Amino acid sequence: MTEPSFIHRFEPATDPNRPPLLLLHGTGGDENDLLGLGRTISPGSALISPRGKILENGMPRFFRRLAEGVFDEEDVKFRANELADFVAEAREAYGLEAPIAMGFSNGANIAAAMLMLRPESLAGAALLRAMVPLSNAPRADLAGKRVLMISGAMDPIIPVDNAKQLATSLSASGADVQHQMLPTGHNLSQTDLQLLVKWFAE
Ligand code: MLT
Repeated sequence: MTEPSFIHRFEPATDPNRPPLLLLHGTGGDENDLLGLGRTISPGSALISPRGKILENGMPRFFRRLAEGVFDEEDVKFRANELADFVAEAREAYGLEAPIAMGFSNGANIAAAMLMLRPESLAGAALLRAMVPLSNAPRADLAGKRVLMISGAMDPIIPVDNAKQLATSLSASGADVQHQMLPTGHNLSQTDLQLLVKWFAE
C-alpha cells in the first residue's frame, strides 16, 4: 500500500487457519487499543486496526454524531463505505481473506453499518456494546455470516431494546446471530472476554 487511506496498524498472521480480524476502537481510542484483545481472542490471526478519521473534541471516531446515541446517518453511510474501501485495499496489499470485525462501541456501530451497506467487506463480526446505526438500512444478504453481539443490560448509552432491535434486524438479513445480554454497563468485563474467546474458537 503506497499511501494507505487510513492510519492503521497491521500484524501478519502467524496461524494461517485463523481468520484476519478488523479491530475497530471506541470513541477516543486509536489503532493501538484493541491489538492486545485481538491477540488474546484469536491468537495467530492477522490484525488490521485502523484509526477513525472523525475527531470529536480531539477524540477519534468512525463517524459523526449529533449527540450521544444520535447519529449523523449521512456520515454513517459515507464512512461505512470509506472503511469498506479501506478493507478492500488492505486485503489486496496484505493478501488477506475478508476479515471478521471486532468493534467496541462506536467501532461496533460502524461494523454493523458495514454489514448492512457493504456485506461483502466482512466475513462476520463481534459487536461489543453496539446499537442500531441506521434507521432505514437496506436489507443486506448476510447469509453465512456469524455475528456475536454482547450488550450490557445496564448500559447508560444503549437502551436494551435498541440492542435487541439490531440483533433482530441482522438475523432477519440471514446472519447467524448470537446475542448475549450481560448484567453490566458500557465498559467491557471479564465475561465479554470469555464469550469472545469461546465464539472465536467455535
Ligand atoms: C456512538 O457514538 O457510536 C455511540 O454513542 C457509542 C459511543 O461511541 O459512545
